[in-house]
Amino acid sequence: MTIREALKQAADRIDRHSLSNARLNAETLLAHTLSADRTYLYTHDDRELSGNELQRFEETIYERISGTPIQYIVGRQEFFGRDFLVNPSVLIPRPESELIVEAVLDLKPPEGTRIIDVGTGSGCIGISIALEMPGTWVTIADISLEAVRTATFNAMRLGAQVNAICMDLLDATKGPFDIVVSNPPYVRNEESAWLQREVRDHEPEVALYGGDDGLAAFRRLIPAAENQLRPGGYFIAEIGFGMEAAVLELFGSRWEKLPTMRDLQGIPRTVRARLRP
Ligand SMILES: C[S@@+](CC[C@H](N)C(=O)[O-])C[C@H]1O[C@@H](n2cnc3c(N)ncnc32)[C@H](O)[C@@H]1O
Repeated sequence: MTIREALKQAADRIDRHSLSNARLNAETLLAHTLSADRTYLYTHDDRELSGNELQRFEETIYERISGTPIQYIVGRQEFFGRDFLVNPSVLIPRPESELIVEAVLDLKPPEGTRIIDVGTGSGCIGISIALEMPGTWVTIADISLEAVRTATFNAMRLGAQVNAICMDLLDATKGPFDIVVSNPPYVRNEESAWLQREVRDHEPEVALYGGDDGLAAFRRLIPAAENQLRPGGYFIAEIGFGMEAAVLELFGSRWEKLPTMRDLQGIPRTVRARLRP
């Protein structure tokens, strides 16, 4: 069977399982199977696939139609222009989380700025910050040891100089930090029923759920950040749909609340606050 025929067959199969972007999925999986890029598939579409290649391609299609997110099958996801390795112990980076990196860039942090990314997962936010602003001192932290391992590996691959710690929120650090950033788990427990199956069944629970109202991590993280930020330091965090008012309520009088950044769909997504100097 040629590449062209295999792609057509796979895309039809994926489509029959009502998964979106069937053709793109098929191309991504075949390119992954052949350790090639998608352009290769077009320039070699008459090439015959070996039995072994077909077998491995078939295995990836089976995983996909069983509901595994494509990023976990191919083991990577792009974030802020770089490729991050992912596995089922870390959340798949989402494009809206790039806003946190942009918010830090907007602050134009001078050399020596101390930044911590709490709940780093794959490391996408903290590592992007370290690479975009090389003079800063970035710490990446997560409660999941597997996530810290994955993030550390991503930092090494991408050449980012970061400190990595496994801890509960900010519990094992004293600071002071200039900037605390976080994309904490914020899905309300009861929302689990409405989550996409791919998310609910495959992404780590510890990365998703924020208690009954989704605010559990924020309730602890904001006071912890207040203790560990220097006066004038910033707190920047991602929030879920409809959470802005409730999250902003959690900041006490020592904070100056700044305008929330909206994502591409216009949803308030990234809260920002400054500890008064
Ligand atoms: C929504 S994911 C974000 C991952 C990554 N920062 C991103 O944006 O793709 C939340 C992360 O917080 C971590 N986490 C959950 N509870 C935590 C806690 N109490 N302390 C530290 N990290 C925690 C999870 O392991 C997960 O990696």
